[in-house]
Amino acid sequence: MSATSHKTAPLPDDIRAMKGGTPIVSLTAYTTPMAQMMDAHCDVVLVGDSVGMVLHGLPSTLGVTLDMMILHGRAVARGLSRAMLVIDMPFGSYEESPQQAFRNASRVMSETGAAAVKLEGGRHMAETIGFLVARGIPVMAHIGLTPQSINTLGGYKVQGRGDAAEALLADARAVSDAGAFSVVLEKVTATLADRITAEIPIPTIGIGASNGCDGQVLVVDDMLGLFTAFKPKFVKRYGTLGADGEAAIKAYAEDVRARTFPAPEHTFSDKASG
Ligand code: KIV
Repeated sequence: MSATSHKTAPLPDDIRAMKGGTPIVSLTAYTTPMAQMMDAHCDVVLVGDSVGMVLHGLPSTLGVTLDMMILHGRAVARGLSRAMLVIDMPFGSYEESPQQAFRNASRVMSETGAAAVKLEGGRHMAETIGFLVARGIPVMAHIGLTPQSINTLGGYKVQGRGDAAEALLADARAVSDAGAFSVVLEKVTATLADRITAEIPIPTIGIGASNGCDGQVLVVDDMLGLFTAFKPKFVKRYGTLGADGEAAIKAYAEDVRARTFPAPEHTFSDKASG
């Protein structure tokens, strides 16, 4: 199955069934037009909490709120008819207890129409994942580099090297056993990503992991060249929209200053037909 072979949005179980098949295609989106652009091409569209950094200029994802996720989630939902919508649970909205996670995840689901939520964490979040899944909330897990824990991880480092590999494998098994329908592997060595992919029954979705994962995800503003504050090694730029946009704005500013914009074709005559 792929985005082009289903007429209605896939469900989490359809994504789970893509394990080992055609790779799952996923991107983030935060607005209706961006969602419309990717709807025909992606299996999963994720409203990531990266929205805080790429759209709101925050220094990390830690300042993102539940209300921001719901607002952007609703905007993205309006742009999708074929791809499955997943929304990130922001920092502080789910870690305290399974009950807190359910209260906030149920808001996300009911107020946006998302098919699932994503949350960061391995073994320590397994109980919460099980609690949500048992109550009707499909969960995409996220392990490896988990940006909400940046202050305890000691920076945006590659995860799973050396002795850390076994711990990450245990995290992958735990979220899978708890009932997650898929798991994002972020900034994990390729060898370990391949090993996890081979050992767990749910799809792995890589970002800075391996092309052997069951799917890939990127932050859309990164791959389009819209967010240029920094570029992680794992990002491939497929466009230069940031540079193109700045060139267009510069041209507009020059036209306004030279009074060549608006031109006659952009203004209205006294005739009613114009
Ligand atoms: O917030 C986000 O955009 C994400 C993806 C990078 C997986 O979590």
